[in-house]
Order: sequence, then structure tokens, then C-alpha cells
Amino acid sequence: MKRPQAVLFDTLAAGEQLYVYPQESLKKLNALIVDKGRTLDVGCGDGAIPAAFDAAKVFGFDVSPRCARLSSKCGVPSIVADATQALPFASESFDTVYCVDVLHHLEGKQQPLLKEIHRILRPEGWLAIVEPDARNPFVRITQEPNSLLRVAPYNNEPAIDPRALLSILDELGFSCSCDPIHIKGEQVVRSVFPMWQRLAKAPFVVALALLYRNCPNKFAILAQKSA
Ligand SMILES: C[S@@+](CC[C@H](N)C(=O)[O-])C[C@H]1O[C@@H](n2cnc3c(N)ncnc32)[C@H](O)[C@@H]1O
Repeated sequence: MKRPQAVLFDTLAAGEQLYVYPQESLKKLNALIVDKGRTLDVGCGDGAIPAAFDAAKVFGFDVSPRCARLSSKCGVPSIVADATQALPFASESFDTVYCVDVLHHLEGKQQPLLKEIHRILRPEGWLAIVEPDARNPFVRITQEPNSLLRVAPYNNEPAIDPRALLSILDELGFSCSCDPIHIKGEQVVRSVFPMWQRLAKAPFVVALALLYRNCPNKFAILAQKSA
């Protein structure tokens, strides 16, 4: 049986694109790691982000077959795989791993994935994680399961506080830094909610967005595996 995230993202990516990112955001993501070498993008979506990487070789995987197909189509060889299971890649086979907006979809199973990423990275390889920042109240409230103001398409994708990830990464032996990052991107399928719900929520969501407009919407963790 397909994971619910596979069904959801197959639907959200039913057209040719899942998200539209301005060039400026793609450049910021690319710039997180300079000498990427052989790179893997976890949960690659439609491939827009890894296709913009200046890396020696870029691969992707996604739980959504539709996303893996779209990503391959834009030049990033991508397979269907589940980030909550053992990854189908050899140990120490990547110089760099990116994981953009994926960890909050794993229903609490971040630790096993981070352990797997540690296994497939070469010594001194780099991991870049970008996630919606739970410390921003707008982000937290609009992604909270069962929140009346939820705009996230699935009811179990709470935003993450980076401190939770940093402690797992630290235990695995990564050296980390964590900084705010502002990434803009529009989901092509605008909402999974009926129009009446969107209209009812809109004034509150807009007010929250304005109130917290100066808080960064995401954080970026850069983590280096030890030698
Ligand atoms: C919010 S989208 C981000 C896509 C892309 N990284 C980006 O930032 O544009 C989350 C992606 O993670 C994928 N995903 C969710 N759960 C997954 C899992 N268990 N294994 C692999 N990919 C998963 C989804 O299919 C989707 O493409």
C-alpha cells in the first residue's frame, strides 16, 4: 500500500510542477554547500531544487512516483524510495546530501533517516537540511495538526524546532551550524481545502502572516560528518 504522503504528492504534482521557486531562492539553496561533488537530494519533489545545483552529479529520490518521474525528466536521475526505510544507496557513496522540506513529513521518524544519511555520506561529507521553522508562530500554527488555521495539506506534518534535530545530529557525530533562511515558493495546486474553508480562514491566516512577517520562515542546518 502506498504511503499517504505518496498519494498526496502524486496529486499535488499532477501537473508538470509541484512548486514554483524564484531564482533567488534556488540560488540561496544552491549556495548552502559550495563544493558539492556527488550529491543526493532526499524527497526531491519535482526536481526544481536539485536541477539548480552546480554539482558534479546529482541524484534524487522521492516516495511519490510522480515526483520521481518529474525530477528525472528535468535532468536529475531519481528513484522511488521511502525515507523512513533503509536507503537503497551504498555506504559513503555521496559527498553531499540535501534534504529540503522533507523531515516534517516523516511523522516523527527523523532519527532513522538522519542515521541513514550519516551512513551514505563519505567522511567529512556535508548534509544541508532546510525546514519550516516551528519557532515562527505563523509557521507553527498553520502547520499544527488539527489547527483551525491549518494550511498544510496533510494533518500530520508539524513544523520542527531545529533544536530537536541538532541534538540528534550531535549524537550521530555531525558538527553543525544552524541559521535562519527565507525561501519563497508557491505550491502549484494551491490548496487541498474546500473554498469555503479557505475563505473562512483567510482573514486570520493573513493577519498572522503580517504579524510575523519579519520572522524567518525556515532554518538551514549545515552538518559535516567527522573525518
Ligand atoms: C514539501 S515537498 C518538498 C519537495 C522538494 N524537496 C522541495 O523542497 O521542493 C516534500 C517532498 O517529500 C516527499 N516525501 C514525503 N514523505 C517522504 C518519504 N517518506 N520518503 C521520501 N520522500 C518523501 C514528498 O513526496 C515531497 O516530494
